[in-house]
Order: sequence, then C-alpha cells, then structure tokens
Amino acid sequence: MKKNSLIAQKTEELNKLAQLDNFNPTEIRKQVAGLNKLLDESVGIKTLSAADLVPPWIIKTVQFNSQSTPEIRLKELERTGNNVFMVKAETIILDYLTDSGTGAQSDEQWAKIMTADERYSHSKTYEEFIPVAQKLFNKKFILPVHQGRSAENLVFNSLLASLVERANQQGKKIICTGNSFFDTTIGNVQNNHAQVISADCPESADTNEYYDFKGNADVNKIESIVKEHGSENIGFIVMTVVNNTIGGQPVSLANLKAVHKIAKQHHILFLLDSARIFENAYFIQQREAGYQNKTIEEITTEMTELADVILMSGKKDGIVNMGGLIATDNEELYKIFLNRCVLIEGHYSYGGMSGRDLAAFTQGLKEGSRQEHLRQRINQVTEFGNGFRRLGLPIQWPPGSNGIFLDAREFLPHVDKNFFPAQRLCAEIYWRYGIRPVEIGLSLVGRDGAGIKSIPAKDFVRFTVPRRVYTKEHIDFTLEALANLYAVRDEIGGLVYKKEGLGNGHFTSTFEMVATTDIPKLLPGVLDYFNTPKATYKQVYFPPNAQLASDK
Ligand SMILES: Cc1ncc(COP(=O)(O)O)c(C=O)c1O
Repeated sequence: MKKNSLIAQKTEELNKLAQLDNFNPTEIRKQVAGLNKLLDESVGIKTLSAADLVPPWIIKTVQFNSQSTPEIRLKELERTGNNVFMVKAETIILDYLTDSGTGAQSDEQWAKIMTADERYSHSKTYEEFIPVAQKLFNKKFILPVHQGRSAENLVFNSLLASLVERANQQGKKIICTGNSFFDTTIGNVQNNHAQVISADCPESADTNEYYDFKGNADVNKIESIVKEHGSENIGFIVMTVVNNTIGGQPVSLANLKAVHKIAKQHHILFLLDSARIFENAYFIQQREAGYQNKTIEEITTEMTELADVILMSGKKDGIVNMGGLIATDNEELYKIFLNRCVLIEGHYSYGGMSGRDLAAFTQGLKEGSRQEHLRQRINQVTEFGNGFRRLGLPIQWPPGSNGIFLDAREFLPHVDKNFFPAQRLCAEIYWRYGIRPVEIGLSLVGRDGAGIKSIPAKDFVRFTVPRRVYTKEHIDFTLEALANLYAVRDEIGGLVYKKEGLGNGHFTSTFEMVATTDIPKLLPGVLDYFNTPKATYKQVYFPPNAQLASDK
C-alpha cells in the first residue's frame, strides 16, 4: 500500500474511533502517534524517541533569561539600525547566534578551572593537556592557541608567505581549495594574499533533497583546480569537518580519503579544520557503511591520520568559552608555528590561554568526544530541524550538526534577493519573540575584495544551537514562534543599507526596513548602489601598505 493511502486509512480509522459511544482518548492518542509517524515518514523524517533525545546530564546551575518585551526590542532595533549583532544581549531570550564558545561547562570543567596551574610555562595544566590532545588527534606535536582564527593566522602565514612571494614574481596566484571555507578561514587566506576556491559537492546546493554527506568536497573540481593552476601554485587543501558554511553538514571518510589522495599525488599539504570533528565522526558512525561498530575515537583517528596539519577552534567540540589548537607530526612545521606562536599568542605552552582556559579545554575535549554526548547533541539539532520540516518551513535538509539553516528566499518569496531577506527575518524574529538567529547570506558575503557585491547562492537564517544549554521546551518555543511568523510572512518586507559597514560589514552595517510594496520602486537604485565599487574598500580590508597579488 502506498504511504498516502496508508495515511488515509489511518485517518479514517481515527474518525471512526472518535465517533464511538465508548470514546477512548488513550486509544486515540496511540493511533495519533502512529499517524504522526506515517506523516513524518512521508516527508523523510525518522521519528526520534524520548530515549534518543534524553540528555546524559542534569542541570545544576541556571542563569535567568531576559524578560524583555517587543517594545523594548523594537527600540533596540531602531538604535542599532536593525542589525541583531549590535543589540544588547540582555534583551535576548533565546540566542542562536552561534554554537561557538556558548556551551555550558560541566561541573568537572569548573572543578578543573579552580585547580588549574597558572605558572608561565610548562604548567601542570599544559602537561595534562598534551597527552589528551595527542591521543584524540593522533599527532605528536600539539600547540595550544586561544581560538580557531589564531590557528589560521599562524598556520596560513607560515605556509603561504614564501609561496605567495614566489608566485607574485612569476605573475601567478596561490590558490587554496577544499570544501567550503569558514569566513575567518577565507579572511586569513586573503590576508596572506592568496585566493580561496571552494569546491562543494553538487548535492549541497539542493536544500530539499536528503543526502548523507552534503559537506563533501567535489573531488573532480578539486582535481581540475589543481590541474588548471598547477600543483606548485596550490597553497594547501583544507577540509572543514563538519562543513559549517553550507549547513553544518558532515563529510564522509571516503570523501576525505579521495581528496587526500589528490593532495598526496600532487605533493600538496592536506589540512583539517576540525572545529566539529567529533560531531562529524558521529555522523560517519551513523551513516557511512563499515563504521557502525567503530568508536568515535577510532573514526577520529582515521580522519586525523590523513592530515598534515590540524587546526581546531576548541569553542565548538571542545565545549569551552575560549580555546584552540594546532596539531601535526611534522617537526619542522611545528617549529615554525611555535616561533610564530610566541610572537602573536604567547609562550607555546599556553598559546594565548590562561591556565584555567586550558584546563577546561582538556576536560571539554574528553566530554565532547563521548558517544552519549554526541548522541544527544546531534539528535537535539535533528529534532529541531524535524520541527521545521513538520511545519513545512524550507531548511537545509537533513539537519547538520550545529544548527538549522532556514532558506529566507523561500520563506519570503516576495522579497527580492537584493533586499536582505535573511537579515530582515533575523530582525523580525528578534523583535517579535526575543529570539536571535544570524544571517548567513548577502550581508555576510557583502562585497568582494574589489568592492563588487557578490550575491550568495542562498540566503540563510541560521539557528545555531549551543551545546548543553537549551531544553526541549526552548526548542518548542522557537518552533511555535516560527509557525506564527510564517502565518504573517506576507506582511514582512526587506531591508536596504542605511550605512554599509566596511570590511566585515555583517557586524556593523545599519539598515532601514522597507515595505513589500516599495521593493519594485527601490530596486533600480539598490542595484546601482551595489554595482558601484567603493574606492576605500580595499584599504580598509587589507593592510594599507600591502601589495595585493591581484594588483600585479
Ligand atoms: C569551521 C570553523 N572554522 C574556524 C572557525 C573560527 O574559530 P574561532 O571562532 O574559534 O576563531 C569557526 C568558528 O565558528 C568555524 O566554524
């Protein structure tokens, strides 16, 4: 029997049950649960049980939330030019801005913080951190750094500076490729005057279709990038696990191995951006053939042994407010990184972190890689995404590891893509319900280095879920808010720049709200503005005296 005829049959049975004289609510509820399961299946949802979702922790300390009103929040939007990055955090009820550094630390982490060793070098805390990181990342040399972007800064400068100088002399460019780069990763490559060409698998572009590993790279595209530019002009290949930018989507081990093979064939360094490596390992265990009986540690080892250099922001899977690391087996590279670390982060045995940060990180790495933690973490995010799907809201499907990415152009089809539909939705969700998501779209991508706007393929509103912070009730409140917003979406217009912030404009641009009816009238002016390069842009984004590869 086809699924929808099964649903019709169940509905009919339910109707009959409801009309019985001896009406039995318990029996009806049982039947409704069965019908709900069928409805879930009809839209590709695998129903999760309470046992799948129950947290492996209990709440011991609580922090009271803001009780702000829509009036207060509207005033905040007025003050900040409708940019939710600039509103006062105390006006926010639920904050989905990021899963970075926002997780709840455990009692054991706080205990380690109290007993951390703050002596300058080779502290007891450092000596405890090294073997834990060596074991988990399977590398001999470990360098702590204070967060992911400082690992990028340090590693990319060390790897790219001389390559870029040589390429410039030959009138060539240095290219870095892989799956999607995170924005600071792009920034740190560009800041070293090299270029990023990301190569995501084609499946990642179809938000509606289920695919196990949408975070994969397009292996053929990487191969053709290497051929086109010449292997000597490839700075490195970096794979980001999970692939944050396209929806926190996992990468399969088969894909990592295929990309690694190209790197090794052409003597190119292979890097792993492993901010969410344990979450990626969990997806491999659940979805990739042959890994069901392997532990998270075994899968992580299989991933890390491919990498020449591992970079990690500890603020995600390390469940700390601040922390990061670099790992490698290459002693020569380690020494170069170490020297640079002393210049920009501090002594190599603390890397910009106080002893207490490092102690919390050591414990957080152990907790973040536990099977029961990952089961609850991934299932909570999945169930959040299932809620969107049940409401018929357009999201990157299936849900990834760190949050839900709502397709703003589909949510507001009447708002032209030049009018910041995702940014406008963030403002609406904030003022109406006190919930803050973040735009991953036009405002973030803004203009490229030459001052020309690049329109991203998608305009997402990202609801990133902090680890161990929100309960099912928080998630349900969010879904209820979104269902209410969807019902009035026709009333919601777009935004235009009041003042465009230069450089990382995402954080500082201010906007004005425009009504749906004004959009067609304003469109020619908006296009004109975007197509006019800004003379000052380059100087703000790059160091003023730097000579750009693209200037040659
Ligand atoms: C994939 C990825 N890489 C790097 C970073 C940068 O890390 P951090 O915020 O610790 O500097 C992030 C941060 O969100 C990220 O998601």
